[in-house]
Amino acid sequence: MNPNPLPNRRTFLRRALVAGAVLSLGPSALSATSTALRLGLIGVGGRGASLLHTLLRFPGVLVPAVGDLLPDRAARAARMIQEADRGPVRSYAGSESAWEELVARTDLDAVIVATPWEWHTRMAVAAMRAGKHPGVEVPAAITLEECHELVRTSEATGIPCTMLENVCYYETALTLLRMIRQGCFGTVQHCEAGYQHDCRSLMFEPDGGLTWRGRHVAALDGNLYPTHPIGPVAQWMNINRGDRFVSLTSLSTPAEALRHFAATRFGANHPAARRDYALGDVNTTLLRTDGGRTVTLYFNLLTHRPYDLIFRLEGVRGIYLGTNDSVCLEGSEAPAHQWEPFAPYRERYAHPLWASLGPQARQSGGHDGAEYLMFHDFLKAVRARTAAPQNVGDAATWSAVFPLSIASVAAGGRPVEFPDFTAGKWRTNPPLGVHGA
Ligand SMILES: NC(=O)c1ccc[n+]([C@@H]2O[C@H](COP(=O)([O-])OP(=O)(O)OC[C@H]3O[C@@H](n4cnc5c(N)ncnc54)[C@H](O)[C@@H]3O)[C@@H](O)[C@H]2O)c1
Repeated sequence: MNPNPLPNRRTFLRRALVAGAVLSLGPSALSATSTALRLGLIGVGGRGASLLHTLLRFPGVLVPAVGDLLPDRAARAARMIQEADRGPVRSYAGSESAWEELVARTDLDAVIVATPWEWHTRMAVAAMRAGKHPGVEVPAAITLEECHELVRTSEATGIPCTMLENVCYYETALTLLRMIRQGCFGTVQHCEAGYQHDCRSLMFEPDGGLTWRGRHVAALDGNLYPTHPIGPVAQWMNINRGDRFVSLTSLSTPAEALRHFAATRFGANHPAARRDYALGDVNTTLLRTDGGRTVTLYFNLLTHRPYDLIFRLEGVRGIYLGTNDSVCLEGSEAPAHQWEPFAPYRERYAHPLWASLGPQARQSGGHDGAEYLMFHDFLKAVRARTAAPQNVGDAATWSAVFPLSIASVAAGGRPVEFPDFTAGKWRTNPPLGVHGA
């Protein structure tokens, strides 16, 4: 269970100092002058291992605790940490509740959660109750009650909660944010975005049994992965910062694609090819804001298609379309009403984060560097004990599309009311700025 017992305090301090860190050993306490941050990481499958790889690029980060249901995965993560010479690490593995001991440690500043969806809120809530800033994978919550619980717990404990929505840090997403702030698009009236990614092979174990993703897809019909497309859109449209979502309506097509895939992979008579799957092949959700503006979200994991997040941004003075990575802007030197390549705009309107940290971000990988910049902001917030640019209200709002779309689909597309997770503060919260490093 614990292949990497804690070394003595002297070895620990020496290793931390070698790693460029001045260490505070108090219970979950970083003094104002200390630079080392101590993180726990729960869930080290595909995503958790990739996040760990990025985190280990930050010299002041120690990861003394890793947890996973499966001991071999926790052991693999512990080896990564030791090979990076980041001091001692202890594994918490072998049961569904082993992570509780990790969260209860008194020497962690933050806990990263990269487990299946159904664990996110309870792990984030436990972290906040234990005084640790959670950095939780997407979506942060999958029921409305969980969305409210995240906000309530953060308010009651005074501990911020960050959802690790990396797409908000894509170079194009941040370039567009800067262009919007500079008035290039005029008022943003409508956005269209989607998570359209053929993930059928992730639904099945090699024998045709369902993975955790497959179990959700078999049971639920709606937009089950809304935060990648809605995160940047919400930032562009000042959602919870001047406007807010007030309702949505959602419809799904029939479900055919996963049975077709299962028949091709496992044979037409395999149970996986004959069972029912709840999730329609293409889900479409239409949201309305208090200001009367609109957002269309597409969700499609199941048909044969290229990856495409769409990202169509429609302002009074122009449009960007991610599918062809082009813009058409009033006043541009390009011929009127023609698409123009976006690449030169990425240079001209580079967001300060990309302008200053772009080279090391790109080098670190992780969606072309987006994860590096996301962690840059997250770690800065943990160190300062403040909320990151994506706060708990954003985590709840963006995740809420999951349960609300399910409710609307179940009611034949009836509009459902969108809760206000800011308790009215959306009217006065300032828009997200274009912040630097
Ligand atoms: N932001 C992104 O770009 C991105 C990309 C991929 C995945 N994700 C998210 O990351 C999360 C994990 O996805 P993944 O692809 O790594 O899945 P995965 O199945 O590869 O990994 C999940 C890990 O969690 C472990 N786990 C399950 N229950 C646990 C428990 N009770 N305690 C401790 N560990 C437990 C599993 O053993 C597994 O190792 C999901 O929420 C997913 O949506 C985000």
